[in-house]
Amino acid sequence: MDDVFEPAASDTRAVFLRDVLNGLSKPQKSLPCQYFYDAAGSELFEQITELPEYYPTRTETAILNTHAGDMAEALGRDVLLVEYGAGASTKTRILLDALRELAGYVPIDVSEEFLLHTAQALRADYPELPVYPIVGDFMTRFGLPQDSQGQPVGFFPGSTIGNLNDDEIVQFMTAARALLGDQSQFLIGIDLRKDASILIPAYDDAAGVTAKFNLNLLTRINRELGADFDLGGFAHRAIWNDDASRIEMHLESLRMQSVHIGDRTVSFDAGETIHTENSRKFTIDSLLPLFEQTGWILKKNWLDEDRYFAVLLLSAT
Ligand code: TRP
Repeated sequence: MDDVFEPAASDTRAVFLRDVLNGLSKPQKSLPCQYFYDAAGSELFEQITELPEYYPTRTETAILNTHAGDMAEALGRDVLLVEYGAGASTKTRILLDALRELAGYVPIDVSEEFLLHTAQALRADYPELPVYPIVGDFMTRFGLPQDSQGQPVGFFPGSTIGNLNDDEIVQFMTAARALLGDQSQFLIGIDLRKDASILIPAYDDAAGVTAKFNLNLLTRINRELGADFDLGGFAHRAIWNDDASRIEMHLESLRMQSVHIGDRTVSFDAGETIHTENSRKFTIDSLLPLFEQTGWILKKNWLDEDRYFAVLLLSAT
């Protein structure tokens, strides 16, 4: 029961170093966002989800609570629930409670420590439910656990799809369609376009938790790659890019400075930023072509009263 799948993890440290140096060599410096989620980052993200300014988690949870019965009916029996980027699986429990005769739960997450802790808690609370944790980046290829059974249903909450660009969405949805199969369905949470006065505080909270989360990326690079980022020399920035309909997260260098990573020196101008993440804000219509192109069709959707967030049910075509 305690088996954990780890997809071809070649040298993770070497891959991390390569990704970091690649990102910091671009004209607009950037870092890949999956590296946010080490144990400390996963913990900080859970704190973000409880912030008064961070409406997505609360809103999506309310949608799930209100419509779990409807969703369970649409999903049917014998579901093998496959969750991409499971985190603490708090929202998943709403579905697990509503679904009948579940065949199993497959949580996928990059943070091994966090994932195993979550899996353990779920096994304690759902003793009948087979749980098959997979450690890894959900953008890489992997198979379903060999002994798992049931009708695969994808679950991708939290508007994590908004952290991907169009090409990545196509790659992800194509892979999910192949993994989950011809009869599968997919529940996806998407954050909707709304006024910048609501969006910006959600990504730049008064208590500074999001700033800590963003800066933790540099702490992690220091610790795991032996770099010497001065944490006091960088500040968190959240910018609304209306044309691209996304919040951009950056780390801004507060002065001219150099940082050593491996055998490389990376220079920063004062005011220069590292782009660490995008969080896109969608209209449902804007996503339909990407879904249709990758073998999915929209079957149903559920929104909150304010139309802040939507949960979409897709069906394999
Ligand atoms: N999927 C989350 C979102 O786009 C991730 C997130 C929330 C995030 N707050 C963040 C990522 C701050 C980086 C920085 O809302």
